[in-house]
Amino acid sequence: MSQESYNKIAAVYSTDMGQSMAFDDVGYYRRLCSERGGHTLELGCGTGRILLPLLQSGIDIAGVDESPGMLAQLRINAKALNLHPSISSGSLTSFSSPPCHTVLAPYSVVTYLADTSQLADFFLAVRRVLTTDGILVLDTFIPRPVSSYTEFRLDYRREHEGGILQREKRITVEAGCNRIERRYSLLELSGVATRTWTTVDVIRPWQVAELLPQATACGLTLVAQHGNFTGTVHADDQFVQLHWRATGTS
Ligand SMILES: C[S@@+](CC[C@H](N)C(=O)[O-])C[C@H]1O[C@@H](n2cnc3c(N)ncnc32)[C@H](O)[C@@H]1O
Repeated sequence: MSQESYNKIAAVYSTDMGQSMAFDDVGYYRRLCSERGGHTLELGCGTGRILLPLLQSGIDIAGVDESPGMLAQLRINAKALNLHPSISSGSLTSFSSPPCHTVLAPYSVVTYLADTSQLADFFLAVRRVLTTDGILVLDTFIPRPVSSYTEFRLDYRREHEGGILQREKRITVEAGCNRIERRYSLLELSGVATRTWTTVDVIRPWQVAELLPQATACGLTLVAQHGNFTGTVHADDQFVQLHWRATGTS
């Protein structure tokens, strides 16, 4: 389901979710991967919002994504920067990669894994490609209580390519998942809509306490936890970054 949605929003992603990240996650990953060295893999690399600046900084990074539309946009973005990224089509649970010193799973991509069996497949797939000193860095938003609502509510109106991108959404909470319908409209500056389309995604907001036993059962040990892309953790953090190592390694 998310593949279809991301294909539909690839061309507006940088104005949409790209601008919604309120923290310097790119700087966080750049510092981390530079210090660690070796090969980095970004799962769910999308249009290259993180991958391309890291590549520009000299980091040996490759990307995997299941959305052909997002990867096509990444290639366009890379060409504009004269970069030649190594990217491939694959899923969070099935991808090929050389051994990795660092695997990144940024921007809550794990919320697209809807149940514990998919989560286990993801952790096992990552563990298989980690070097003995390799780490998985998983970033996800900290779930807050959400209620369903049936009417579309405005998320934002943002300038986009000489016009305005408007996004509205409505949410249905069902069986521990959030079904999110988004309605996108491209508007002229006068307010006239030139195009409207919708996407539907079902996400599972995972609590850290739910991720822990799954990862542990798959042979991963939590070695660090950060909040909002800083070195510290606070009760009101919006995002958490979890660093995991294969159990029994240094
Ligand atoms: C929120 S975007 C993040 C893109 C990029 N990492 C960033 O931070 O800008 C999520 C990306 O994950 C991809 N994705 C979602 N579920 C996936 C899955 N099961 N396997 C592979 N990619 C997936 C989507 O196609 C999309 O490009």
